[in-house]
Amino acid sequence: MSMTSVNSVYLSNSSERNTVSPDLEVPSAQLSIRHVTKIFEGKQDIFSKLSRKTTRDFTAIEDISIDIEPNTFVSIIGPSGCGKSTLLNMIAGLSDISSGEILLNNQPIHGPGPDRGMVFQNYALMPWMSVEENIRFAVETVYPKLSSKQMTRRIKENIQLVGLEGAQKKHPHQLSGGMRQRVGIARALAIDPQILLMDEPFGALDALTRGFLQSEVERIWEQQRKTVIMITHSIEEALLLSDRIVMMMRGPAARVDEILEVPFPRPRNRETIDQHPAYHALKSEMERHLFRETQAVEASRI
Ligand SMILES: Nc1ncnc2c1ncn2[C@@H]1O[C@H](COP(=O)(O)OP(=O)(O)OP(=O)(O)O)[C@@H](O)[C@H]1O
Ligand SMILES: [Mg+2]
Repeated sequence: MSMTSVNSVYLSNSSERNTVSPDLEVPSAQLSIRHVTKIFEGKQDIFSKLSRKTTRDFTAIEDISIDIEPNTFVSIIGPSGCGKSTLLNMIAGLSDISSGEILLNNQPIHGPGPDRGMVFQNYALMPWMSVEENIRFAVETVYPKLSSKQMTRRIKENIQLVGLEGAQKKHPHQLSGGMRQRVGIARALAIDPQILLMDEPFGALDALTRGFLQSEVERIWEQQRKTVIMITHSIEEALLLSDRIVMMMRGPAARVDEILEVPFPRPRNRETIDQHPAYHALKSEMERHLFRETQAVEASRI
């Protein structure tokens, strides 16, 4: 099922397939992705031709529309290479939109801004700066007029929020992967963005650390209730953290297949979440989707 203009989805019954009310406008959308397409332009210039290195235009995603209401935790899941990072980078303003538009509070976004904070999979910390300095650098860039007292308080609060007290003077090479990602999260939250964007934030971590940090993110989200858009390859992670899960189809020209509502009450607990009557139906639906799309990608390579 291809649903390019779907704005709302509801789960009518835990044992039923999720159903969709098409083209339903959501006036309260904080972020509105409207008919967004991304074409990576190929190289056809004379130098590329002479060196026989021409490439064609590549449509990564096509005509994607999603409305995201404030204070929701949205996950994006889909087969590798389908365009998840491409979409997130456009929301972050790090990559141009080929057609369509992305509105934040009804205003089109142009480039990056302090209203969106990004957490990268590979942490992207400054190696020569301590934990504190990494966070300070981000805050100073966005709020150059903050007094030193306000700055110190903001850094301290965010270090405490992610549980890094005692490590503030350490440098990234002195930290474990999980601690580095905590710095990445603290740094993104310290600029107090309206929307937190995370591209596979736990992808590089071992299973135990990953589980621990997922619970930490759930705890922080309970406190702050910021809008979050997170890319993940983990079905369990998406089910634990999300209010809605966007399932993308394979590329090229990838579209949104379905958007699932996750009805579990909060705060959530990884030990008991699978006892909810809707858990297994949602999990199976996602497994089927990922299996089908990944199988189709593999078949196209043969
Ligand atoms: N700068 C670029 N130029 C050309 N093609 C690109 C560029 N960046 C990404 N692509 C292509 O766009 C498609 C989507 O890439 P993207 O990185 O968004 O996928 P993804 O869903 O994030 O994958 P993964 O799950 O492996 O991280 C891929 O086919 C990729 O090769
Ligand atoms: Mg990616």
